[in-house]
Amino acid sequence: MAIRLIKIAVVYLVIGLTLGVGMGMTHNFLFRSVHAHVNLIGWASLALAALVFHVFPETARTRLATIWFWTYNVSVPVGLGGLALVMAGQKWAEPALIVGQLGIWAAGLMFAVNIFWALRSKSVEDAPMARSPAAV
Ligand code: HEM
Repeated sequence: MAIRLIKIAVVYLVIGLTLGVGMGMTHNFLFRSVHAHVNLIGWASLALAALVFHVFPETARTRLATIWFWTYNVSVPVGLGGLALVMAGQKWAEPALIVGQLGIWAAGLMFAVNIFWALRSKSVEDAPMARSPAAV
């Protein structure tokens, strides 16, 4: 799961950076919110999720983690694609924006529940970093 997520995350990074450079070169900031969300919901959130699943592998082995993976990775392109179209004046795309946003929200809830569920028997002392010399 962590490897698949980091590969998806860097695709969003390249898209986000390219949008940023494009805005900077053309001085057309119409898609600034698309740029921001591709970088933060795409790159940053997925890279963070990959790190969480790598540091706490038990959180990646639940059925909820798999449901989260597909809900999030279907909702993000639908939502951000809808946002880009709506920003470009295509009002008909608003349902895609709404469905995508609600999917991202629901996935966020799933991610939180999954963390509390998969780590329910763990304490701070069990955290991988807690055992490293750097933690003292
Ligand atoms: C090559 C790198 C990047 C370039 C050239 C770039 C360019 C831009 C530009 C031109 C704007 C619009 C500024 C304005 O509204 O006056 C912007 C806004 C923004 N960028 Fe970037 N950006 C880059 C990387 C990133 C990254 C990596 C992130 C986050 C991980 C990010 C997050 C944001 C956010 C949050 C905004 C504000 C959006 C808003 O005001 O709605 N950017 N960026």
